Amino acid sequence: MKTVFSGIQPSGELHLGNYVGAIRNWVRLQESYRCIFCVVDYHAITQTYDVKDMGRRVDDMVVDLLALGIDPERSILFVQSMVPEHTELAWVFNAVSHMGDLERMTQFKDKSEHQPDNINVGIFTYPVLQAADIMLYKAELVPVGQDQLQHLELARRIARSFNHRWGQTFPECEPLSTTVPKLLGLDGQAKMSKSLKNHIPLSVFGNDKALWKLLGPAKTDPARVTREDPGNPENCNVFTMHKAMSPEPDIEWSRQGCSTAGIGCVDCKKKLAENMQKHFAPYVERKKEILGKPGYVAGVLRDGAEKARAIAKQTIGEVREKLGLWHSP
Ligand code: TRP
Repeated sequence: MKTVFSGIQPSGELHLGNYVGAIRNWVRLQESYRCIFCVVDYHAITQTYDVKDMGRRVDDMVVDLLALGIDPERSILFVQSMVPEHTELAWVFNAVSHMGDLERMTQFKDKSEHQPDNINVGIFTYPVLQAADIMLYKAELVPVGQDQLQHLELARRIARSFNHRWGQTFPECEPLSTTVPKLLGLDGQAKMSKSLKNHIPLSVFGNDKALWKLLGPAKTDPARVTREDPGNPENCNVFTMHKAMSPEPDIEWSRQGCSTAGIGCVDCKKKLAENMQKHFAPYVERKKEILGKPGYVAGVLRDGAEKARAIAKQTIGEVREKLGLWHSP
């Protein structure tokens, strides 16, 4: 059985964009692969953050992952900093990573522009740690979004350089990209994101009022000034969500109704809200259960780290040997 590895930054509670873009797929992959999912807190410290929030951000995210269906009996779910072999292997990988390659990473360039007062070496070698995450488990498949393909290509180069210099050790991982409908922000911007504050947090599910407070004012196709104006669903934020969340007949209903002005945007949003609440009802239930069991999340993470570490230690042992490092006779 092939191994899948993926990582996610501990941004706290998840939102609809995270779910549709990544986590829904993770849940499915558990059926067919050995899956290892990691909350990458050592990646997160390369950005400026509030120390007092970090622990809760990890906790909240893990609660959501479990409630959405990541199954700790089948998959390994853990926090990166609890398995120190990640940073150890990243150091070794630094020795086979090229400055020029890292300088070309668009995410490095973006982030340097974004936080010019904090261009630390960590954001530069960020993709090297990412390569270590994957290789530590010799994962063959890595589900990632478009924005991570460049990092994955780099991970393959690093594996190749390592294998060339010290002998065949790591497989060249492949991205596992599934076409996912891309969600726009509630404000109509190109991306739903927490930092843009245009997202639907999963915490509104189970609460009709809270959901409607976000969905009610959400931007639709600007061509629909009045209810009588037909629109183009492909330009509509709400339609992208229908495509991601609604059953086929409702997607068709929305497409037709929008382009012929047969339905109003409010009706379209109401149907969407209903479908989303239905979809997330099991999540709401499981989340309640998890929060009702104190110590459960900590136990899952302890177990996960233990399982991850058993594999990681083996890989690091092999790496040390290949490097010819001193070991006690
Ligand atoms: N860089 C990824 C992101 O921001 C997160 C990540 C870290 C990751 N390590 C990984 C993803 C390993 C896949 C595999 O989304």
